[in-house]
Amino acid sequence: MINLMLMPCTIDDRTPAPGADELAAGLLAESAWISPKFLYNDLGSKLFEAICELPEYYPTRTEAAIFASHGGAMARASGRGATLIDMGAGNCAKAAALFPLLQPSQYVAVDISADFVRDAVHGLQQRYPHIAMQALGLDFSSELALPASVGAQQRLFFYPGSSIGNFTPDEALAFLQRIHRACGDDGAILIGIDLEKDHAILDAAYDDALGVTGAFNLNILRHANTLLGADFDVRQWRHEGFYNPSLARVEMHLTARSNLTVRWPGGSRRFSEGERIHTENSYKYRQASALDLLRRAGFGQAQVWTDPEQWFAVIYARAGAPA
Ligand code: TRP
Repeated sequence: MINLMLMPCTIDDRTPAPGADELAAGLLAESAWISPKFLYNDLGSKLFEAICELPEYYPTRTEAAIFASHGGAMARASGRGATLIDMGAGNCAKAAALFPLLQPSQYVAVDISADFVRDAVHGLQQRYPHIAMQALGLDFSSELALPASVGAQQRLFFYPGSSIGNFTPDEALAFLQRIHRACGDDGAILIGIDLEKDHAILDAAYDDALGVTGAFNLNILRHANTLLGADFDVRQWRHEGFYNPSLARVEMHLTARSNLTVRWPGGSRRFSEGERIHTENSYKYRQASALDLLRRAGFGQAQVWTDPEQWFAVIYARAGAPA
């Protein structure tokens, strides 16, 4: 049976859409920003799928190769019959590829894009009728409120794609602590973390030749127009994505091509030519600092798998204290 729990959505035009206040606050900040969660509307989720197919965007295929080579060892570490909780499931493809090895008893696909993940779970349920499945629309920026229908035994939190890198190191720690609290004694995490590497490789991965990454980033402005009623003209903005070594992160920005004003009900902001809206960071870790982060969040007994070039790491860590 598919149990679908969706975020409440506002149909009444007079009430601002969820997120409108946050969008306005970010646009009015001295250094303007838009939360990266607004990248993932319906089109945004599809554009991100396209990014994952790009030759420049190594994280997805490198991580997939690690799962393909070491999935058996990961399944032996975690054991069968887990409650697999997929954090940021998207199209659910990464978790689904591990079903034959992990053989979870329950699959819980969590994503901020509730409609997108619900459709994906619906398709997956046909292929795996014996695994109990549910789709949850949740925003990870608050406490993890998992409903009682999510099995409490042997929870395995799956957090691939180096999404952890999209938090600041402090936020990442707080997020992992929340997962750790939701793990129980017998829970664990299976997490993908992108590693520091040659800067030119990082620059290309976040600013590809076809401009798919640019389209993905710029689409956030259309989403802001929908949610906030803003009048962003996408053509007046340019994508920028580059590695900032002093902060060990790739930064994504949208840069105004000319002096312009953006208006929305109840507010407006002037941007000068070259002024930026910061949309996302993607922190890159060294293996030792990634393990340290997990340890500080309360996880022990970690196992690490990487690719031959050490571009990416998949780490399995248990919630229980080290034996
Ligand atoms: N989580 C992805 C990452 O950090 C998101 C991403 C990839 C992204 N390319 C982007 C976000 C470009 C904004 C702009 O790798």
